[in-house]
Amino acid sequence: MLGEALRGQFPALNQEIGGHPLVYLDNGATTLKPDCVIESITSVYARDCANVHRGVHTLSQRATQRQEEARVTAQRFLNAPEARECIFVRGTTEGINLVANTWGRANLGPGDEVLITAMEHHSNIVPWQMVCKATGATLQVADIDDDGALVMDDYRAKLSSKTKMVSAIHVSNALGTVNPVEEMIRLAHDAGALVLLDGAQSAPHQPVDVQALDVDFFVFSGHKVYGPTGVGILYGRESLLDAMPPWEGGGDMIRTVTFEETTYAGLPSKFEAGTPNIAGAIGLGTAMEFLMGLDLAKVAEHEADLLRYATERLDSIDGLRRIGTAEDRAGLVGFVLDWAHPHDVGTILDHEGIAIRAGHHCAQPVMDRFQVPATARASFGVYNTREDIDRLVSALHSVKEIFAP
Ligand code: ALA
Repeated sequence: MLGEALRGQFPALNQEIGGHPLVYLDNGATTLKPDCVIESITSVYARDCANVHRGVHTLSQRATQRQEEARVTAQRFLNAPEARECIFVRGTTEGINLVANTWGRANLGPGDEVLITAMEHHSNIVPWQMVCKATGATLQVADIDDDGALVMDDYRAKLSSKTKMVSAIHVSNALGTVNPVEEMIRLAHDAGALVLLDGAQSAPHQPVDVQALDVDFFVFSGHKVYGPTGVGILYGRESLLDAMPPWEGGGDMIRTVTFEETTYAGLPSKFEAGTPNIAGAIGLGTAMEFLMGLDLAKVAEHEADLLRYATERLDSIDGLRRIGTAEDRAGLVGFVLDWAHPHDVGTILDHEGIAIRAGHHCAQPVMDRFQVPATARASFGVYNTREDIDRLVSALHSVKEIFAP
């Protein structure tokens, strides 16, 4: 029930670009939305349009119930012990900023270290740089090798009793590398450090179990798991979230307010100030149900087949070099061509109806490591097929005819 069989549920696939049926291979940037998610969001505005946690009237109760059901779905999606450990945030970026600015500012100081990897997305570099600057802590970076795999010896060497937090990408958005997170987490905990995993590119492609991983924080974005933009989940261990200062101040995150003093609400409200993205949270709940209904283990198998096929076919093109060749990869393939800049490739493919991403993928240090200004990236989703990859490869041959006749 993956690939071709699913395509009818995604209305955006039913269109032509430049006279060609759309082939959508930019799932790493965002995924298309199935009918059930679109209907779920529409029904909030059409029927249950009210604020949450604030009204005794029926519409407010319905909206509140649907939003809190979505939180329970997030708990199941991540196998979190408690729903209140799942905080609605704007997305992965906000989730990491929340932890850096609350846990980080309360717990980091001179002499402390935060360890990230050399394959991080900017959203897992910049918030830690900012908090290190503010607290006097030091940012350490574990190296990657020429395949784009984490150098475990360097990771081990940079972990020490000074390391207070390891914040690492689970699956690299630029390279596709799947990090050995079980081992990374075990080693970090042995050193006394906490671990945050950026799951933006893992949650859409494989089952995630925060208890089996024994991870302290896990963040992902709704729009990459076939849900809406502007919403995501931060999971955190209850004991850690309880001990952290609040994030933003405002409505819903308080217990009592006077001009002299404010006391804060418990979890999850403490971290959800202001009117939340109610329709977004509900749409995300529907998206997670949709993905779980497909069986994430089967999704992983389907996309692993696409990745194997794409790798094989792309390797047959003279002058194409893949960037990101680690043994354990998922979800995407990045490449450069001897004869054309990635942006030109992206534009010409678009004329053929094929959507890929070209650029630095918000991971400039990765581009620097591989000494390329940008890469072209095809990233896969549940509706992609081997035929999509055939279309990509044949369009790349057309690009070659233009640039290297
Ligand atoms: N981080 C997203 C990507 O990799 C936007 O494309």
